[in-house]
Amino acid sequence: MSNVAAARGRPRRPARRGDEKFGKPGRSRYRAELPLVDNSIAPPAKRLGVWIFGALGGLATTLVVGTRAMVKGLCPVRGLVTASDAGAGIAWQDLAGIVFGGHEIRDGDYYSSAQEIHGKTGSMPSELLRPLRRELAAASRNVVRGTLPNAGPTIRSLQSGRQRPARPLRAQIEQIRRDITSFQRRHRLARVICVNLTSTEPPLRLGKAHTKLADFDAAIDRDDQRAVRPSAIYAYAAASLGLPFLHFTPSNSALIPAIQQLFVQNGAPFMGSDGKSGETLVKSALAPMFAHRQLKVLSWVGYNILGDRDGRVLNDRDNKSAKVQSKDALLPSILGYPLHTHVGIDYVPSLHDLKTAWDFVHFEGFLGFRMAMQFIWQGCDAILAAPLVLDLIRLADLAARRGEHGPMPQLACYFKQPFGVREHDLHRQWQLLVDYLDRVRGRRPR
Ligand SMILES: NC(=O)c1ccc[n+]([C@@H]2O[C@H](COP(=O)([O-])OP(=O)(O)OC[C@H]3O[C@@H](n4cnc5c(N)ncnc54)[C@H](O)[C@@H]3O)[C@@H](O)[C@H]2O)c1
Repeated sequence: MSNVAAARGRPRRPARRGDEKFGKPGRSRYRAELPLVDNSIAPPAKRLGVWIFGALGGLATTLVVGTRAMVKGLCPVRGLVTASDAGAGIAWQDLAGIVFGGHEIRDGDYYSSAQEIHGKTGSMPSELLRPLRRELAAASRNVVRGTLPNAGPTIRSLQSGRQRPARPLRAQIEQIRRDITSFQRRHRLARVICVNLTSTEPPLRLGKAHTKLADFDAAIDRDDQRAVRPSAIYAYAAASLGLPFLHFTPSNSALIPAIQQLFVQNGAPFMGSDGKSGETLVKSALAPMFAHRQLKVLSWVGYNILGDRDGRVLNDRDNKSAKVQSKDALLPSILGYPLHTHVGIDYVPSLHDLKTAWDFVHFEGFLGFRMAMQFIWQGCDAILAAPLVLDLIRLADLAARRGEHGPMPQLACYFKQPFGVREHDLHRQWQLLVDYLDRVRGRRPR
């Protein structure tokens, strides 16, 4: 079996209508000739690999600790749609069968990272961590050095410990591919799902090199470092192996059209970008109310304050601009008209991961009378996001088992900038997911 087929744990499916949207298959060196299959759902794997880019970050650590803690019955199962009535009747991947690994640019391990987080937010007490010590040590052994081409000064400043020597882009991609396939072989994993949880990168200026796969391949071969950021290298490596990819950050370099083509060519599903876990989630739930009641929103301004490494990275003007863009796009789309909006993000170190957002909504009603609504959201970012990532892993695994490829619009409700669907209204996005799950169960959509 080829690398692609072996890595994703199933044979390749035939091309379908809609493939041409992402370019014609067959242009990349990583195209695999594989047998055709039907669309029946394969059962969940005994062991599923989850490869995290940004493996020791706050969110990644909370995800790994939380998954193992739920499996051991050390905490309740909370926040998972796949464990709710909406997900009933579907054979989801058993959490106990998930093996974590990933790339990171800082020294560390899961136990000390979790202790550090607990010291700041109180979210992972030692009663929870102590029984997991051995498992967390095993997961830490699966974390290897990541790559940092053209990451910008703020992300580069996070590095600690011994880095891999700088190498041409093609060699970096080959290294990432080797790291993932050797993880899969070592742990005898049926399939690997890749999740991008790296720091938010400065936006990449997109040009000719990013539209077509052949042009992007040429840029890689020329070692044109300005044409990539780390997320591009990770997404490209995952696509070249035909692995499902979840892009939870706003970095625009990952799912460029050329890389989308490679995912489609190799029959893999992908989705992003930027997880919708806090203030933007509330916005996307509330904005439809104003639309339904014909209350005209004049201004919607939101001010976010947060600490932690994520906050430090977002304190860099370039990196912040990627996040602001992602958080600001939805209101005109839901309301259907332009309005005054503002998204502020400020670094307040003492808050750590306990992010606070204050939103002020100025709106006009009957007789042109003006009124206001305000809300304050105080969430622990990683606690909100970790179950979303776990749901997404299970849903991406399900999509892969069903032979789906390309964007997964059914997952729109999890993202601030969903791919392949223009819908931002949380309620409609939720219906997309419910309809999809009904189809999986063989029912007609409600
Ligand atoms: N609620 C949430 O937590 C939430 C919601 C939406 C999006 N996100 C996004 O998820 C990402 C992770 O959030 P976090 O709070 O865990 O941040 P974090 O700073 O704690 O973690 C990011 C990790 O990525 C590592 N990293 C950076 N560049 C890397 C590279 N090139 N290769 C490998 N590792 C690299 C960092 O060292 C760090 O450990 C951020 O981009 C954030 O904006 C988080």
